[in-house]
Amino acid sequence: MRKPLMAGNWKLFKTAAETKDYFTRFLPMVAGSRHCEIAICPPFVNIPAAVEAAAGSNVGIGGQNVFWENQGAFTGEVSGPMLKACGAVWAIIGHSERRQYFGETDETVQRRTVAAIAAGLRPIVCVGEKLEERESGRTEAVLADQVAGGLAGLSAAGFAQVVIAYEPVWAIGTGKTATPEMAADAHRFIRGRVAGHFGAAAAAAVRILYGGSVKPDNVKGLMAQPEIDGALVGGASLDPAGFASIVNF
Ligand code: 13P
Repeated sequence: MRKPLMAGNWKLFKTAAETKDYFTRFLPMVAGSRHCEIAICPPFVNIPAAVEAAAGSNVGIGGQNVFWENQGAFTGEVSGPMLKACGAVWAIIGHSERRQYFGETDETVQRRTVAAIAAGLRPIVCVGEKLEERESGRTEAVLADQVAGGLAGLSAAGFAQVVIAYEPVWAIGTGKTATPEMAADAHRFIRGRVAGHFGAAAAAAVRILYGGSVKPDNVKGLMAQPEIDGALVGGASLDPAGFASIVNF
């Protein structure tokens, strides 16, 4: 039985003060939520504020990226051991916005994922097709390439730490959610590719989250699909009451 993971990706939103205020309001609303794991990934600079605010709670904090070297002359990057030392436990890797705006590739996704695991972080590795890829019937080919290029090189023990997030790019921030059936089809396909690379047991165990315009009013239908093991929530995770109602679907 896979325990759901409900994760918020705050992207480039909220100051440290807003982060503290959020947790003051959010934590009481999810304190009794034992049916799932809960993660929130603020911008790097607010991870310490989030870790402090969430201390002793059932909410784990994560980064939105992680570099593959531990230290060195890499201006602007943040490493796994640094995140870990701040109290982070999760790291989103290969988000489509990283792929689209910052040149992230399956190869860099794999390097970051290996580094996150080595640092003791749990990677949430994002995959998903663009609109033109779906419309030209290439969804499965794209997902297969992303799974092979981003994950297949991991060790079995390393892969056991990974959570996959299926985020169709056309559904992110657009209000267009994949239907629960469409998402479940993609998840089933991804799980099949995982089975091919890591075997049936690893495929049965890996959690696959859905992301893309998840809201309080559509989360229930998505979570009713046995293939969907949680959500990676952008915009709707910024409001404590809204995200709490998603967590408590
Ligand atoms: P939205 O929930 O705002 O569509 O964003 C999804 C996402 O990109 C989460 O990583």
